[in-house]
Amino acid sequence: MSDILKVGVIGIGILGSQHSRNFSKHEKSKVVAVADPLETRAEDMAKEVEARAYTDFKEMLSKKQLDLVVVATPDPLHKEPFISSVNAGVKAILCEKPLATTAADAEEMMEAADKAGVRVYVNFANRFNLMDIATKYVMQQGLIGRPVYGEIRLDDNISVPTRMWGERSVQWTSGSSTAHFLLSHVSDLLRWYLEPAEVEAVYAISQREVLKYTPDLYDAFLFWNNGVKTRVKAEWIKHIDSLVEFYICLGGEKGGIVHNKLPGYGATRGWRATLDRDIPSEQVNQAADALGKLGVKAKAEMISDATRNGEGTRGILEITESDSKNGTDLFIKSILEDVECTPNLPTGKDGFEAVKIVNAIVESAETGELVRIRA
Ligand SMILES: NC(=O)c1ccc[n+]([C@@H]2O[C@H](COP(=O)([O-])OP(=O)(O)OC[C@H]3O[C@@H](n4cnc5c(N)ncnc54)[C@H](O)[C@@H]3O)[C@@H](O)[C@H]2O)c1
Repeated sequence: MSDILKVGVIGIGILGSQHSRNFSKHEKSKVVAVADPLETRAEDMAKEVEARAYTDFKEMLSKKQLDLVVVATPDPLHKEPFISSVNAGVKAILCEKPLATTAADAEEMMEAADKAGVRVYVNFANRFNLMDIATKYVMQQGLIGRPVYGEIRLDDNISVPTRMWGERSVQWTSGSSTAHFLLSHVSDLLRWYLEPAEVEAVYAISQREVLKYTPDLYDAFLFWNNGVKTRVKAEWIKHIDSLVEFYICLGGEKGGIVHNKLPGYGATRGWRATLDRDIPSEQVNQAADALGKLGVKAKAEMISDATRNGEGTRGILEITESDSKNGTDLFIKSILEDVECTPNLPTGKDGFEAVKIVNAIVESAETGELVRIRA
């Protein structure tokens, strides 16, 4: 492994362009090759980051010795570049989410990677968001008591499935769905917050009233093996002001978290954890300090208890502004130092688990039955 990672990027669309720029700007990595069947995309990016352009990723893999390959092709097209990279001897792969659109593809990919000892990351970028890091901390420390219920909505503006990929939008979204494109993120976030819990069973509905070529939405209940139930919903037919609407509400036996991550209209972004009322103020302050060490600036306060009509006080943690950790930096560090970094980088195993959940959602919506993932 070189001191400066030699990176190749496959698929130079929206995300592949971002990755190419991020890795080319980083002092510890250099993008040496980019591949896309659309020649001008590959050529333009190659010029921008001073790399070599290829229209065929197999040629790129045979000609260039790469430390890291980024796979950023459309959702159903990750397997071929991924397995070809493994076979070419690449030791680290950063695959865009979802890892795959079928469990069979995901299994084949992870079997090949495990056999060859390849380090696999899946770009579940929400894990780098400081408000999400705060959520994980509060849940894992038991500050809202035992988690019992959660509700997450991740919706896109209708412009995404109709226009985001230009003329290719209908074809692109027909090969995917809101389950694969959006609920893969949500499934991973929930697994991460609730670690080590896993989803046992799924019940879901979907509909095709507006888009027809791909489901308008999926709305699903996930039943977790620690007793938690979560409702997860993702739409592609929203007429909203923003591109994305993202809302997370997690309920514990003794408190809760509301995270207005990306409002669609009229609400302000924000994060608040209402803690177990038995937690004294010193411990509330300590939790804020601990979050500070994770890079999260949270305000700790004792407020009158709204759940008891203002009688007594309880602690809250509140974040109004937050940034993200630099994912590119974390991936590079993990590869160069051969260690897992905080905040627990999303691995191929995480990608595979998310594929299982997403596929159970799709199957349940198609059959109308509860689908079991594990006994
Ligand atoms: N992590 C995130 O938050 C996030 C956000 C958006 C999209 N994504 C994911 O990133 C991936 C790419 O999405 P996008 O919006 O950039 O798509 P895109 O269509 O803009 O880009 C994909 C590119 O891959 C190219 N391509 C297709 N087949 C190829 C092949 N065989 N070899 C090389 N290139 C090939 C296409 O020509 C296109 O340029 C998807 O899996 C998507 O779900 C992730």
